Formats: sequence, structure tokens, C-alpha cells
Amino acid sequence: MTEQWQQDIHNWLSNGELLQATLSQLRRKDGDASPKTVIRPVQLKNGLHYQFEYHFANKVTHDNVASDLAADRFIELLQQNYRQALVKTPEADVQLLFNKKGKATLLAKPPTGGSRTAGLQHNRQKQRVLEEGKAAPFLVELGIMTPEGLVHAKKQDKYRQINRFLEMVTDVLAYLPNDRELTIVDFGCGKSYLTFALYHLLAVEQQRAINIIGLDLKADVIAFCSQLADKLGYDRLRFLVGDIAEYEELQAADMVVTLHACDTATDAALAKAVNWGASVIMSVPCCQHELFRQISNDTLSPILSQGLLKERFAALATDAARGTLLEVLGYKVQMLEFVDPEHTPKNLLIRAVRSEKQGLSMKKWEQYEQFRQFLNISPAFEHILAERWPNRLEK
Ligand SMILES: C[S@@+](CC[C@H](N)C(=O)[O-])C[C@H]1O[C@@H](n2cnc3c(N)ncnc32)[C@H](O)[C@@H]1O
Repeated sequence: MTEQWQQDIHNWLSNGELLQATLSQLRRKDGDASPKTVIRPVQLKNGLHYQFEYHFANKVTHDNVASDLAADRFIELLQQNYRQALVKTPEADVQLLFNKKGKATLLAKPPTGGSRTAGLQHNRQKQRVLEEGKAAPFLVELGIMTPEGLVHAKKQDKYRQINRFLEMVTDVLAYLPNDRELTIVDFGCGKSYLTFALYHLLAVEQQRAINIIGLDLKADVIAFCSQLADKLGYDRLRFLVGDIAEYEELQAADMVVTLHACDTATDAALAKAVNWGASVIMSVPCCQHELFRQISNDTLSPILSQGLLKERFAALATDAARGTLLEVLGYKVQMLEFVDPEHTPKNLLIRAVRSEKQGLSMKKWEQYEQFRQFLNISPAFEHILAERWPNRLEK
């Protein structure tokens, strides 16, 4: 079972909150482990990594570990070699102490490692795609920046959201094929801030061969976005009017994005992504109403009898079901905080990358079945992909 300190490490790393960690106090003096290991985030060309710096008596070595593998390495090192770790985050300095039986104690003190502008965030700041002072034409056209590159006061939140999104994309670029043209779809693209931002990052800044499609039900926003793409000369960016569930044009796509596609529109988008074998899925759901109407469980009545609690719980259950089903299908899934909750409550990003593993994970499927039975739910995502599951249950 995952212990709290292990979960904390996963959260710190996946949320980009780790500024630095120092592992010390060797469990065994006669082994070949370095007496001290320092871990810090580094932004490399192929995305976020964590640098593990091993301090021996007369030399220092290091290796860079991809961000999705770093938490496991961190935990493994602690369990095998060290009895102490000092973890600096923007919120606190956390000391992890292990007794001889391996039981952990956590002590939190006020932070000394700097704010979110330090460490990784600092690194990210330095290499932000959309820097203030440097006008990006699409941001000017969308009314976020002035032609001089200043962000309009009222658009600061949107600007931060777009940058955060691009940072999170940068972290998973290594999972996308780099030997051919990429196909990316933004479902429920709306005014398409993110679609334009993706094009800017990949086609303009990185000069990659890409083909991006934005799809939305609303003809007027699609007409606006098409005109803007023309004006900007973004010739590999197309906008189409249509319903996600009925979109049949493509046979495959490398990356699927959805930002605030309402209720089960997210499920339709996730299902398309899976059927296309997308390597990367980035989805920020919203309006998760479907399970609100379904969930029932007497034990959970303290939650379910309160409308507000039930609504939040149903939203979490919806995304937990989506995440677990993606794991059944072989995706590695992270649930990340998209932007600070003060900016929007629709704040959870499901980031999934396709792993090399073939076949379904029966372990995850069993977890999912227990979960859905416990809550008496029958989620749309499961139904849309009905033929994919190990055995179809009576509903
Ligand atoms: C809240 S807006 C978000 C727009 C944009 N992604 C953003 O975050 O700025 C949701 C968009 O999803 C679109 N949408 C909802 N259901 C859809 C469906 N089934 N097919 C296509 N678009 C859909 C709506 O028309 C709307 O423009």
C-alpha cells in the first residue's frame, strides 16, 4: 500500500513543487551508496527531468531522470539507502525521518527554499514560450497582449493558464513521435487560445511538422478562429464545426486536448484519443454531471445527502473512473493541478501518456470494477469503449 510520504513525493514531483531534496544518513555504512544525494528539477530540451546528484567522498556524479519516473526513483533510494530527507517546496521545508523499522515521520517547517518562482518554476520561467515583453502575434490578436508584449491586466489569468498548459505539454513532448508530422486535435476548442498556443509552440517556435485540428459545435467561434488562423498564416491549423462523438475524419492522432469540454463531451474525446492510439492526452474536464445522477451508496450518505458535497464527489469519481480506465488501456495517468484553484474551480488536468506495454491491465480493471460497483455507477467512458474491456458486465 502506498504510504502518505510516498504519495507526498509523487505529488511534489508531479505538481512541480519540488525545489530541492537532500537525502542523507545512510542506512548502511558498508554499502556503495553515496553518503548524500541531492535531487532538483531541470528543464531539458526533451522536457522536465529531475537531476539526481550523488555526492561521494571524492567525486560527484549525476543522472537526469524523466519526470514521470523520478518519484519512484526518489522513493526507492530512500527505502534502500537513507534514513533522512529534507524536501524543500514553496509551501514548506519537510523533513522525512525513518526509524530502524522503516517507519516515516514527517516534520514541516516554514519554507526556506523560495517561492514558486524558485527551482523548477524559475527554470520554467526562464524558458517560458510566451514571455512578457515579447509579443506573440496570436496573443495580440486574441486580446491578451499589447503589440508591445504587455499582458492586459484583465487577461493575466488566461495568460498564466496558457503558459501553464504549454509547460505541461513541454513535459511530455518526449512521448510524441519525432520522425514524422504530428496530428493534434483540440476537442471543444471554443475560442481556441490553447490551440493557437500549441501551434505557436510546436510549429512556430520549434519548427515541427504538425497538423492541428480544432473542433467545436459553435459555427461562429469556428468562423472567427479560421479567419484568425488565416490572418496569422497558420496554414497547418484547421477549424471545423462538429460534434466530437460524430467526428470521423481521422484514422489516427498523436495528441488529443480537451479544455473544459462539458460533461460527457470529455468522454467522447477521450474515447476518440484511445481509438486513434494517441500518445498523449491532455484533458481538463468540467461540468461532470453524469455520475451525480447515478451515484448511490448508503455508507457514503454523509457525502451524498449534501448536494454540494455530492457534486464535488461525483466530479472526482468521474475523473477517477476515466483515469483508471485509461490505465486499464495501458496509459500512464497523472492528475495534476492545472492552475491555482483561486483562478478556476475547473482545475484538474488528466494527463495520460501511452506506455509501450501491450494489452490490458487486469489489475486496474479489477480496481475499476470494484469502484463502479461500490458507487453503483455506469460511466459514459466505459460505455463508449464497451468492446475494449476484458469482459462486459451486466449493467
Ligand atoms: C467551456 S468551453 C471551452 C472552450 C475552450 N476549450 C477553452 O477552454 O477556452 C467548452 C466548449 O466545448 C464545446 N463543446 C461542448 N460539447 C461539444 C461537443 N459534443 N462537440 C464539440 N464541441 C463541444 C462548446 O461549444 C464550447 O465551445
